[in-house]
Amino acid sequence: MQVIPEFVRSSTWEKVLNFIATSDEAAPYLLMDKDVVREKASVIGKGIRNCRVYYAVKANPHIEIAGLLDRPGMNYEIASEGELKILSALGVKPGRIISSNPVKSPAFIKHAVDYGVDYFAFDSVAEVDKLAAYAPGCNVYVRLTVPNEGSEWPLSKKFGIEPDTAVELLLYARERKLNPVGITFHVGSQCTNIYNWSMALDKVSSVWSSAESVGIRLKVLNIGGGYPIRYTKEVIDIQSIEEMIDTLIIP
Ligand SMILES: Cc1ncc(COP(=O)(O)O)c(C=O)c1O
Repeated sequence: MQVIPEFVRSSTWEKVLNFIATSDEAAPYLLMDKDVVREKASVIGKGIRNCRVYYAVKANPHIEIAGLLDRPGMNYEIASEGELKILSALGVKPGRIISSNPVKSPAFIKHAVDYGVDYFAFDSVAEVDKLAAYAPGCNVYVRLTVPNEGSEWPLSKKFGIEPDTAVELLLYARERKLNPVGITFHVGSQCTNIYNWSMALDKVSSVWSSAESVGIRLKVLNIGGGYPIRYTKEVIDIQSIEEMIDTLIIP
C-alpha cells in the first residue's frame, strides 16, 4: 500500500511515481511540479491593489523555473550576475528587473546597468556611493530593518537600517544625484508571524512622511518576500497576509 505524504498533492505524487518508474536519472535529484509552481505564483499579489509581482530569482534560479514564470504580470528581482545571465538568456526586458540586495558588487552593478536595469536597493552610505559611481542617476529604494520574529530565515540582522538613518540616506542619495523613489523591507523568509508585516508598515509610514517633509516624494514600496509555504507545518495563508497589507497601505 502507498502512503502519500500528507503535504504532497496526490496529482504531484502520481507524477513523482511516474518519473521514478520511467526515468533512469541517478538519484539523488530534486523534482518540482511545474503546475504547482505556476499555480502558486499566480496567487501572489492578487489581494493587493496596484501591485506588481517580482520573482526573486535566488529562490530557485533554474532557468526552466524562471522561464515558466515569464508571463504577463510577472517581473524579476535579482542579486547576482548569474541571475542576470539567466534572465538575459530568456530575453527578459530590463524594465521587468529590479535588484533589492542592498550590498552589490561593482561588477554586478555594471552588468545590470549595461543590461538596462534601473532600480536598486541600498542601506548604507557606501552603497549610495557605489551606485552613484556605477549606476549614475538610477532609481533607488532604501531598505529598513523590521521585526523578523517567527521567520525561519531572519534577514534583518544583516540588512536594513532604522527610520532616522533611512531618511538621512534618502537625502544623501538625492545629493549624489540618484533618484530616491521608495522603501523596501523583508520580514524574513518563511514568515509565520503576520504582525511582522504590520510593524514593518508602521515603520514605512513614518519614513514615507518624514521623507515627504524634507521634499522627497516616494512612490514605490517593495514588500520584499517572506510569504510562507506549507512544507510540513501549517502556515498562515497568503490571502490573509495580503488582505492586511492592502488595508494598511491603502486604508
Ligand atoms: C531582497 C529580497 N527580496 C525577496 C526575497 C524573497 O524572499 P522569500 O523567498 O522569503 O519570499 C529575498 C530572499 O532572500 C530577498 O533577499
